[in-house]
Amino acid sequence: MNVLIVGSGGREHALAWKISKSSRVDKIYCAPGNAGIEEYAECVPIGVLDFPALTAFAKEKKIDLTVIGMDDPLVAGVVDAFEAEGLRVFGPSRAAAILEGSKAFSKDLMKKYNIPTAAYENFDDADKALAYLETVDFPIVLKADGLALGKGVLICNTLEEAQAGVKEIMLDKKFGTAGNQMVIEEFLTGREVSVLSFVDGNTVRIMTSAQDHKRAGDGDTGLNTGGMGTFSPSPFYTKEVDEFCQKYIYQATVDAMRAEGRTFKGIIFFGLMLTEKGPRVLEYNARFGDPEAQVVIPRMKNDIVDVMEACIDGRLSDIRLEFEDNAAVCVVLASDGYPVKYEKGFVINGLDTVKAKEDEGYYVFHAGTKRTDAGIVTNGGRVLGVTAKGPDLKTARANAYKATEWVSFDNKYMRHDIGKAIDEA
Ligand SMILES: Nc1ncnc2c1ncn2[C@@H]1O[C@H](COP(=O)(O)OP(=O)(O)O)[C@@H](O)[C@H]1O
Ligand SMILES: [Mg+2]
Repeated sequence: MNVLIVGSGGREHALAWKISKSSRVDKIYCAPGNAGIEEYAECVPIGVLDFPALTAFAKEKKIDLTVIGMDDPLVAGVVDAFEAEGLRVFGPSRAAAILEGSKAFSKDLMKKYNIPTAAYENFDDADKALAYLETVDFPIVLKADGLALGKGVLICNTLEEAQAGVKEIMLDKKFGTAGNQMVIEEFLTGREVSVLSFVDGNTVRIMTSAQDHKRAGDGDTGLNTGGMGTFSPSPFYTKEVDEFCQKYIYQATVDAMRAEGRTFKGIIFFGLMLTEKGPRVLEYNARFGDPEAQVVIPRMKNDIVDVMEACIDGRLSDIRLEFEDNAAVCVVLASDGYPVKYEKGFVINGLDTVKAKEDEGYYVFHAGTKRTDAGIVTNGGRVLGVTAKGPDLKTARANAYKATEWVSFDNKYMRHDIGKAIDEA
């Protein structure tokens, strides 16, 4: 079969790699892809939001399955556009992707169906939000309703900060229309864990857990980024936590979406906080995380195409998901200065060294790279994700950091404490 992947980051590279392992796949295309994805897929320069061009391409190339990696096209209705043309596609419809696309929607859903989450109020009026702030305890959490590239959440320690935050989000429209509505919610404390799942509308199958590191600097300092590294599984995701989430969160969410007439098929990413009172949902995403995919997918034993097709056809209950009984760590190699200002265009050396060790559990997933006559060069803030597996988290981490030394480019920057939290487990 022919498969089209939509997206261009490290997550899509991990997906392309995994899909290339499927015995059923003949040819892979990726729109728009990157220099790493080229190894498995023919990359075509079509934008991820250009639905007419994407569907026309899928028809022309007789694509049997399209896989959407990113949030923006899902929330904008790419799945509906494909289905309207009779094309098979993996991912939630626009009506279902609202689970990620609107934080106000997801909070109301959780409240209505008793899914544990932080206490909150939604606002579509800045004056009402400002008045409400006079009544709350601090810190307090402000969230722009819509997609904001992971930057729309502000944790405010004082009334003044929170007032400034409401103004930024709702009046100055710092995050554009994402700030037409906002959520103000209770500040929770605890460990964060990400749990990814496949969903077919009725059945939900949990993958392994993971945790990411969002801040740019060691010790969780500095600005928020797209993600500087991940590890999987999370040692804090215990059997008790899993039992709680199975009972009150996962199936409850899938059933709630169906009851709302928004049947969800695809990936649900549960962003959880393990509080003293038990797990709470911080947010939902409607796709694989990036860089969570880079540690979860390499540990997956199933043929991912089989699982995706089972989701589309409502046969997921027939599938047993299997993950290797090991661990993986991904360290992101970024351009120094990211996420603010950085130079690009530096030649990357050592990619083949990592690739040659795939059988030993080393991978390099491209995020911001470009092929030039001089070779593959840096072309973004996050450049590569170096993933290594190991029998346990500590070994996987040591392996991942060893592999980061095999790859070099002029302004290479990385965190040195990815997975350090596991020492406390
Ligand atoms: N209620 C909360 N209490 C404490 N921290 C929170 C809360 N909600 C979100 N956060 C923090 O903000 C981060 C981003 O929030 P999240 O809801 O995941 O939005 P997004 O990923 O879209 O930016 C979380 O990973 C968490 O660290
Ligand atoms: Mg998040």
